[in-house]
Amino acid sequence: MAKVSIIGAGNVGATTAYFIAKQNIADVVVLDVVEGMPQGKAADFLHGSASAGFSRSTHGTNDYADIAGSDVVVHTAGIPRKPGMDRMDLLKTNVNIAKNAALNIRKYAPNAVVIGVANPLDVICMVLYRETGFPVERVIGMAGVLDSTRFQYFIAEKMDAWPGDAKAMVLGGHGDSMVPVPDYTSLGGFALPEIMDDTTIDALANRTKTGGGEIVKYLKTGSAYYAPAASAAKMVDAIITGKRRVCAASAYLQGEYGYRDIFLGVPVILGTSGLDRVIELPLTDDQKDALDQSAAAVREGVETLNSIS
Ligand code: NAI
Ligand code: 2OP
Repeated sequence: MAKVSIIGAGNVGATTAYFIAKQNIADVVVLDVVEGMPQGKAADFLHGSASAGFSRSTHGTNDYADIAGSDVVVHTAGIPRKPGMDRMDLLKTNVNIAKNAALNIRKYAPNAVVIGVANPLDVICMVLYRETGFPVERVIGMAGVLDSTRFQYFIAEKMDAWPGDAKAMVLGGHGDSMVPVPDYTSLGGFALPEIMDDTTIDALANRTKTGGGEIVKYLKTGSAYYAPAASAAKMVDAIITGKRRVCAASAYLQGEYGYRDIFLGVPVILGTSGLDRVIELPLTDDQKDALDQSAAAVREGVETLNSIS
């Protein structure tokens, strides 16, 4: 019986729980520091089982002991951005929250695959990796699926097509320097450069980079959560069901793409044990330069992390 625990029952956490519950692939535990809130959300879910078609349990808690035996733990606990903030502005607060979560995950769910979601994503993944002491395969970050799904949507919107027929690849850190790669992006199997001019592609790629900020500007008090939660649930589904999906995810690199000891968004295959393998794609000089810049931004965040640890 698969079990998925979600740390943080806020917008992303609760919505991820909803998508997983809809898939009926696992029992779900939602944990939050706020007393009563995860319990209330879980009870609300359960009351809707008959209408929503939920057949697995959802349990809300403030007690880490309840995550025991989890196959996957999704870490969403942390503050979100407000207008004018960069994801790196969240670092200090969210690092401390992640450290505490990681120690509890290590204690209560020592065999789980951990999916990092809280921002700054690639730095928080480093915290989860260091503090759990888990092997690299079992700590991965959700960002590439989200950034790619946004790129897919913008392409489909432009062509008045179904977003599911678009495939997109976005590499690098989850920040303004992320690297959408049109050469590895397609609609209906047609490579993007074959069906759109460069100016249109650049505009869609740039909108992808600022897609998260676009939502922050609208919401004013928080950041996106439906698309992020759908993306996290997609990763959970791949791991729990063993579908071996190919997607972009933040992975701890050990020489791949020329980087070492850093979490960075790269194409991966997800297996039942988490990160099955990193796929190394040939990149043009311009793409590699852009990835270098993105990696440098993540390294800066890790240096800040090291200075406060
Ligand atoms: P939110 O504020 O709605 O929820 C965060 C939850 O974390 C709150 O319920 C809060 O009580 C809880 N929390 C805080 N400290 C905790 C602790 N010590 N233990 C357990 N729970 C704790 O925020 P939202 O919108 O759910 O975003 C969560 C995080 O995910 C943010 O850092 C946000 O930037 C990030 N995010 C990352 C994305 C990605 O692509 N990687 C996409 C969307 C959001
Ligand atoms: C996003 O891209 C907030 O990182 C989050 O929407």
